[in-house]
Amino acid sequence: MNLLDKFHNWRRKTRWNKQYRKGRWDNLRNPIEAERYTTIINFIKNHGKSQPSILDLGAGEGVLNEYIDSEIFSHFLGMDFSEVSIEKAKAKNFPKAEFVTADIHTYIPNQKFDVIIFNEAFYYVHESEKQQVLDRMLAHLTDNGILIVSIYREGIGCWEYFDKLKKLDFTIVKTDQEKTYWKIGVYKC
Ligand SMILES: C[S@@+](CC[C@H](N)C(=O)[O-])C[C@H]1O[C@@H](n2cnc3c(N)ncnc32)[C@H](O)[C@@H]1O
Repeated sequence: MNLLDKFHNWRRKTRWNKQYRKGRWDNLRNPIEAERYTTIINFIKNHGKSQPSILDLGAGEGVLNEYIDSEIFSHFLGMDFSEVSIEKAKAKNFPKAEFVTADIHTYIPNQKFDVIIFNEAFYYVHESEKQQVLDRMLAHLTDNGILIVSIYREGIGCWEYFDKLKKLDFTIVKTDQEKTYWKIGVYKC
């Protein structure tokens, strides 16, 4: 990213913090969103190893943790560049879970994970950095580790990055609103 891109990225972070402070993203807990989270959890159960370690990129307030049974994983790390969302996630004291503030563009995980998740986060990666970020995350998958990607609607300019990987499963989570749907895929290297 050039200097201007970095400035815009900082501005976006400031906006996310403001929105999280105001509760603007409380709607992620609406029932209409539930099947997106449960589909991700089923992908972990069906395609991940037993008791996996999980990295959730752009984890926000840890809504996924509100759905996932901590018995199914050994360790969960959520990261997000919004320190406000991370503080909210930490305050919930989810079992076996840790949350860190970091920017996905520069974040280097300090260990390998069995499951890495981009849950409504990949489209926020700057165009010029998408491949690099994806490669860095793939390098932090354990042998037979899986990558799970959820993208709202069509995800223009996103899916082509994952098409190069081995697709294990893919589904479209539909709702009663025609324009509200998510595509969710699970991949390995
Ligand atoms: C639509 S929310 C999804 C939150 C969460 N994954 C969920 O589904 O409940 C997108 C999240 O991506 C985070 N995000 C956006 N750009 C980011 C970046 N550059 N680095 C880290 N997180 C980022 C935002 O702060 C926000 O929490």
